[in-house]
This record gives sequence, structure tokens and C-alpha cells, in this order.
Amino acid sequence: MYKIMTINDLFHRSDFLIIGHRGAAGLAPENTMDSFRLAIELGCPLLELDVQRIYSEDGTPRLVVFHDDTVDRTTNAKGLIAGFSVEALNKVRCTNDLPIPMLEDVIGLLAEHPNVGLNIELKSKETAGLIAQTIQANPHIPVLISSFHHDELAQFRQLDNATPVAPLFARWREDINDIATNLDASAINIAATSVSAMRMQILLESKLPVFAYTVNAPSKAEKLRQLGLRGIFTDRPDKFDLYLLN
Ligand code: G3P
Ligand code: MG
Repeated sequence: MYKIMTINDLFHRSDFLIIGHRGAAGLAPENTMDSFRLAIELGCPLLELDVQRIYSEDGTPRLVVFHDDTVDRTTNAKGLIAGFSVEALNKVRCTNDLPIPMLEDVIGLLAEHPNVGLNIELKSKETAGLIAQTIQANPHIPVLISSFHHDELAQFRQLDNATPVAPLFARWREDINDIATNLDASAINIAATSVSAMRMQILLESKLPVFAYTVNAPSKAEKLRQLGLRGIFTDRPDKFDLYLLN
């Protein structure tokens, strides 16, 4: 019987996963379709992107793929992303004249690449309901939902008790494993700057795979691998051909 790949299958396909951070953000404008296509071409088994909620002019909420609070750094416009309607944002351009994708655009791309998974980071609050609906409508895409907003992940868990989640941590705290357990998490995603040998021993007690962001130097990735991490988020997947899967 044909079996849809899950994130857990993907975790077991490789000892050390190279996750394309915002696609391949060091090689193409971050969180754009070019960036995601490039990360796939380079062999990333999992793509990370950030989503935020905005509204269409008719009031329909949508998920846009975008990292910052404002569009100033990465586009030809200015202002808060939340202040744009979907229609107004369609006219904005990132570097290289690329539009800002909606989450469905990336899901459409992944439908053509059944061996690639998607790590959707809930960047803004009040995204849990929308993301649960999107997953229900696209059950063929292997997704991992992560967020620094652990309350948002808890809300998502109420709506969907099957899709894998991973709490994100920008800093070390003693209760990381408890938070992961309470969310019935499938992974722990942590800033590479917060990882040490001693802390990794604690995280390994959770028995969950631990992934670190953002690592662009292969020597650093190798050190983390030796500490027991199971993968990294990188802007430069081209530097990690050793671990890539094609
Ligand atoms: O999900 C890993 C990483 O993307 C978290 O930090 O700021 O790059 O979204 P940030
Ligand atoms: Mg992110």
C-alpha cells in the first residue's frame, strides 16, 4: 500500500538532517519561491519557513510566508507586514523582483516533491487555527509545526493531536524537556548558541531529536553532531553535500 511519508519517517532517513532555513536564505532571497526551489534542488529533505497571518480585502485570514514584523529589510516597501492586505502585498517585491509567497504556494511546490518535508514556524500569534485547517486540507505534505510561542503550539495541539510539533527556544531554560513533553512534541528546536555538551545531555533525556539554528559552518555542524544533535537549520545547504540526500 502507498504510504505517505511523515516527518518521523524523514527523521529516520538521515542521522543528521540539513534543514533549509527560509529555503536557502544565504543563496537566494529568504522565504521566496526561488529560495525554496534552490533548497530542494540542493537536496534538503526539510524546508523551514515562517508564517504570519494577514487578511484579504474581504476579511479572509491567510498565511503569508514572511519572517520580519516589517517589510522594510527584505522588500521594496515599508511598514508592518500585518498592515498589508493580501492584495496590497501582491504588489510588493523582494530582492530580485520576487513576490512574497503565501503558504499555499509553497505547499503547491512540495506537492511535486513528495520526499521533501516542511517545517512551518508560526511566527505570529493567532495562527494555530488557520494552520490546522491548512494541514487538514493538505494531508499529503509531511509537516512539522514549530514556534517560539509555545501557547500557540498548545492551541494547535487542541485542534490537531497528530501533526508533529517542535517548541523553539532562543535561550537555554531548565524546563525545555517539560515543555516538549507537555506539547507531545516530536522534536526540540534550539538556537545553536544555547547548546553545550552538558545541556545536550539534559536534552537527550527527552529522547527527542534536537535541531539547532542557524548553522552555516560545516565545522560547527560537525561539533553539534558529535554532541548528539540530529540536524541543523542552515542558510547554506550547498556547504553540506556530505549530509544531503541526493
Ligand atoms: O526555526 C528555526 C529558526 O528559523 C528560528 O529563528 O528567527 O530564523 O525564524 P528565525
Ligand atoms: Mg524561522
